[in-house]
Amino acid sequence: MKSRYALGVALLSACILSGASPATAGGSNHVVSVVTDYAGGRMYFEPKVLHVNPGDTVTWINRSAEEHNVITFPDGYPQGAAAFQSPLFEKAGDEWSVTLTVAGTYEYHCLPHLPMGMHGTVIVGKPSAQEEFHVPSAAEVAAYRDQMLEWFDDEEEANYRPREERDSPAGSQTN
Ligand code: CU
Repeated sequence: MKSRYALGVALLSACILSGASPATAGGSNHVVSVVTDYAGGRMYFEPKVLHVNPGDTVTWINRSAEEHNVITFPDGYPQGAAAFQSPLFEKAGDEWSVTLTVAGTYEYHCLPHLPMGMHGTVIVGKPSAQEEFHVPSAAEVAAYRDQMLEWFDDEEEANYRPREERDSPAGSQTN
């Protein structure tokens, strides 16, 4: 009896000591650097594509005193998963994490720097097939667009015209 009890304690201790990431219920944590390259005229996520397991956590860390954030595209995440969006990073060391339990592809970008091509992808388990992506509602697309317009010229939105009108003979160019 006594020795079985001792063995049990030893095993329990070993389990506790070997726990890699006890805080996230078995998932491990992965870091994505949010990089500002003024000299290169480029803002980017490193790594650009990250492969993780379901239940893992991804942490984005801002490496400089530049404003960045992280937001999923409206159709850029798997059905059954939630869109994600971080607060705005403002200084070096600012970070934000999300735990991803639903397998599939998560396509995200930085709002202020989308025109610079600042985007990234997290693949949880296996990539999503075309029909496995979330299909956004009109309201979701509108909410996303409203956020974009907080950063970009909303006169373009106000002045938006359907293509037939833009391509009318009054326009300066054809095709
Ligand atoms: Cu950015």
